[in-house]
Amino acid sequence: MDPTTAALEKEHEAITKVKYIDRIQFGKYEIDAWYFSPYPEEYGKQPKLWICEFCLKYMKLEKSFRYHQSQCTWRHPPGKEIYRKGTISVFEVDGKDWKIYCQNLCLLAKLFLDHKTLYFDVEPFMFYILVEVDRYGCHLVGYFSKEKESPDGNNLACILTLPPHQRKGYGKFLIALSYELSVIEGVVGSPEKPLSDLGKLSYRSYWTSVLLDCIYKMGVKVSMRELERVTSIAYTDVVSTLQSLNLIRYWKGNHILCVTPKLIEELYQKICKKPALTVDGTCLRWEKPSNKPPAKVSKR
Ligand code: ACO
Ligand code: ZN
Repeated sequence: MDPTTAALEKEHEAITKVKYIDRIQFGKYEIDAWYFSPYPEEYGKQPKLWICEFCLKYMKLEKSFRYHQSQCTWRHPPGKEIYRKGTISVFEVDGKDWKIYCQNLCLLAKLFLDHKTLYFDVEPFMFYILVEVDRYGCHLVGYFSKEKESPDGNNLACILTLPPHQRKGYGKFLIALSYELSVIEGVVGSPEKPLSDLGKLSYRSYWTSVLLDCIYKMGVKVSMRELERVTSIAYTDVVSTLQSLNLIRYWKGNHILCVTPKLIEELYQKICKKPALTVDGTCLRWEKPSNKPPAKVSKR
């Protein structure tokens, strides 16, 4: 790391250690903040921030929040509903069309993200908002953002499940959706680095179950390239996942699977048979944006 980067990292560390906002009220949940988020100063010094769960406007005082609740007409995220199954929906929101909403979402997300994220320059991104629907409206439980054009081949920039909804499978659902979009686009993708520890856990778990499922169905002779092609999981992520499971060898310049069908069967039964919240392709209404360049293959 060069000295300037090191100094910036240090400064960042100092800033993120200072956690100004302790908690937020979000819908029916009071949630403890994990990290610093750069809300405008007069808001940032509050121990508790009141946030409208529908339009994401933030307020200092409960009184203003109650008044806002009586006036706010939003009951779902802006943008286009691209997925609906049962009580789960996903909305696609263009950062260019809904700048304030997306900025507010990024500020909210930063409360639970350690590393630097964008807050204000939201226009180059699309946001995919996951909600639970009931008769009162669409309650935000998580989201991911995605660069409209990613020179690095990233299919996801930032992912969050709000703490009260974590560990229920929503993170893996959002990850699965990000790959589903890449499959439709005909490209391979990878999440933006660095990943947080929780991000690493979730990706590793997603990659492991998807790859084992493919190997189980396609047979142990399948190549890394074929796995990349059918899953849209980038080659390096395929290799690192299978390496961590000790399932591949490097032979004559290639990574190849080195495993018996019996072991795959055992791993498949153990890992892929767990109940999971999956993306049902028949409930997805999404087309590759027409302004996107044609699909390209990943760098090795
Ligand atoms: N401890 C241990 N394991 C965990 C934990 C935890 N606290 N949280 C999730 N996991 C595991 C789960 O067991 C699951 O694995 P399994 O299916 O093999 O059992 C896997 O991680 C995913 O769990 P989900 O329930 O699908 O994920 P969740 O809805 O909790 O969301 C997420 C995961 C989005 C990473 C969430 O923890 C979060 O929002 N964290 C804060 C923000 C963050 O760190 N985001 C990622 C930054 S990196 C990036 O954005 C590119
Ligand atoms: Zn509102």
